[in-house]
Amino acid sequence: MKSSLRSHTCASISQSQDGLSVTLGGWVNARRDHGGVIFVDLRDASGIMQIVFDPNNADSFAVAESVRNEFVISVSGQVRLRPQGTENPSIPTGMVEVVAASVEILNRADNLPFQPDEGQVNEGTRLKYRYLDLRSEKMQHNLRLRHRLIQSIRQFLDENSFTEIETPILTRSTPEGARDYLVPSRVNSGSFFALPQSPQMFKQMLVISGFERYYQIARCFRDEDLRADRQPEFTQLDVEMAFVTESDVMELMERLYRKIFFELGDIQLPEKIPVLSYEEAMNRYGTDRPNLQIPLELVDLSDVMVNEEFKVFSGPAGNSNGRVAALKVPGASELSRQKIDEYTKFVSEFGAKGLAYIKVDNPANGRDGLKSPILKFLSDDALQQILNRCKCQNSDIVFFGADLKSVVNDSLGALRVRVAQDLGLVNSAWELLWVVDFPLVEFDSEGQRWNSLHHPFTAPRQQDIDRMEQSPESVLSRAYDMVLNGIEIGGGSIRNHRLDVQRRIFRLLGLDEQQIDEKFGFLLESLRCGAPPHGGIAYGLDRIAAILCGESSIRDVIAFPKTQRAYCPLTDAPNLISEQQLDELEIRIKPTAAVMTKDAGSGN
Ligand code: AMO
Ligand code: AMP
Repeated sequence: MKSSLRSHTCASISQSQDGLSVTLGGWVNARRDHGGVIFVDLRDASGIMQIVFDPNNADSFAVAESVRNEFVISVSGQVRLRPQGTENPSIPTGMVEVVAASVEILNRADNLPFQPDEGQVNEGTRLKYRYLDLRSEKMQHNLRLRHRLIQSIRQFLDENSFTEIETPILTRSTPEGARDYLVPSRVNSGSFFALPQSPQMFKQMLVISGFERYYQIARCFRDEDLRADRQPEFTQLDVEMAFVTESDVMELMERLYRKIFFELGDIQLPEKIPVLSYEEAMNRYGTDRPNLQIPLELVDLSDVMVNEEFKVFSGPAGNSNGRVAALKVPGASELSRQKIDEYTKFVSEFGAKGLAYIKVDNPANGRDGLKSPILKFLSDDALQQILNRCKCQNSDIVFFGADLKSVVNDSLGALRVRVAQDLGLVNSAWELLWVVDFPLVEFDSEGQRWNSLHHPFTAPRQQDIDRMEQSPESVLSRAYDMVLNGIEIGGGSIRNHRLDVQRRIFRLLGLDEQQIDEKFGFLLESLRCGAPPHGGIAYGLDRIAAILCGESSIRDVIAFPKTQRAYCPLTDAPNLISEQQLDELEIRIKPTAAVMTKDAGSGN
């Protein structure tokens, strides 16, 4: 019997150990039969070691013949330098191999649904057999990088006097704009806990408690429409600080970002991180999370179009909620009719009713140098203004959006990204920025009420507080979002530490006194007990990990994620529960709902 299952890990063996006897344990990554000699690539968490089985050692050779991929084996043998010409410089252990003296099969693997590094496996299958998928080089790398990211963050915050504190998972609703996941309480029959959409109110109460610098790697739960960068449960780096202003939080976070990008991605972020106002971001990019890797901008034309005959443009130009804007794409006047139709269909998904365009042959010739179905509707002056403002040159194309501001911004903002991707116009530089000066609230015309742009605990700017009731739309908040390469990676704000201001915001959001006390009474009480000025931020840790790993989906940096339908193929959750459990909770499922749940469980 061996005293230990292994003496070394694969990657710890190097040329200097030539001749050493070692015992290794791991998985069979590949087996190659080279006419008489069998090679096994043995894989453990550290890397790969080539094992050589010589037919002269009949016992070991027979075992080697029977092993298959992903068998778990233990091998003892001697390290030797690979014979000249057979080295493999592409892997760190490629100069050496181990000649097997004995081998033991510790466990077999059946015919597997896929090989860990197979590629091309559909995601549903990968998630169903996630423990196999996680053996792949990519997933091992991603989860280890995520681990290092978290370590790096913890170290930085610890060095900066932060205390890591956990907050409850079984709690009550926190308003972050999504639906809650609810958990029925057996003990308090008929009552429900909500899983936290974020630890927002707890972190505020922690700084009120005197923990002036709090952080947590916090799990958050949100029932919302899922996308590649959204999961029903995800992880935030959650931070809150007492006695701070916007610039204190932003400066500290910039330092943290410099460190993690440098340590984990060898990326040097610029000394100065640009700060854009919400208004400027919307005007120039149509979105509050612009991707600055794309050198295209929207150009406003509302004032030019307001007196034109062309109703498609003059209508929205004359409407205070409307906008006419242009997106110039340099050198793209050769775009085919078919491609333009495709873009027209694309913008229609954002509510645009059309996509007017002008192709520029020669701007010096004015109208005669242009081609477009809408030329006949526009005055010479308007055409000249378009050419000037968009700085048009030969072979450019200019697209137009004319509609409600929100439609123009959404559609041209998305078109900007789409066209840039299609034409290879996206730069590879890391583009980090802050967006600030958000409106405090926006009007929800369907619900006929004001909603917070961030959450209701965000403070309005001091100079705007007096306008809160008369013209809520003009009030800006003390919020700041961090955007990287067009992805919102974090957001936060200075909070309301004054009770009266917090109450006025709740009222503005349409809550009456009773609702305010019922939902937020405990927080308001805490504001009465000596609450210091405070503020903070939360980062989407999964999103940052995905960016650092070069992944487009956060599912590839989460060990056990859910599908787009909030379903876990591995454990088949969520699932139906027994009558007995329901009885204990005094809950009855509507018959229609039970059928729907069952259907949801079978798909992904
Ligand atoms: P917010 O709602 O902006 O702010 O969330 C902070 C960050 O969390 C990430 N994020 C998500 N990541 C994955 N899946 C999701 N479903 C998801 N939703 C959000 C984003 C986002 O920027 N309490 C406030 C923060 C504060 O004010 O301090 C909050 O939660 O990257
Ligand atoms: P129409 O007069 O509706 O045929 O539109 C003339 C041109 O304007 C077409 O190229 C349409 O795609 C475009 N168009 C129509 N409505 C809009 C709009 N709201 N915004 C931008 N372009 C539009």
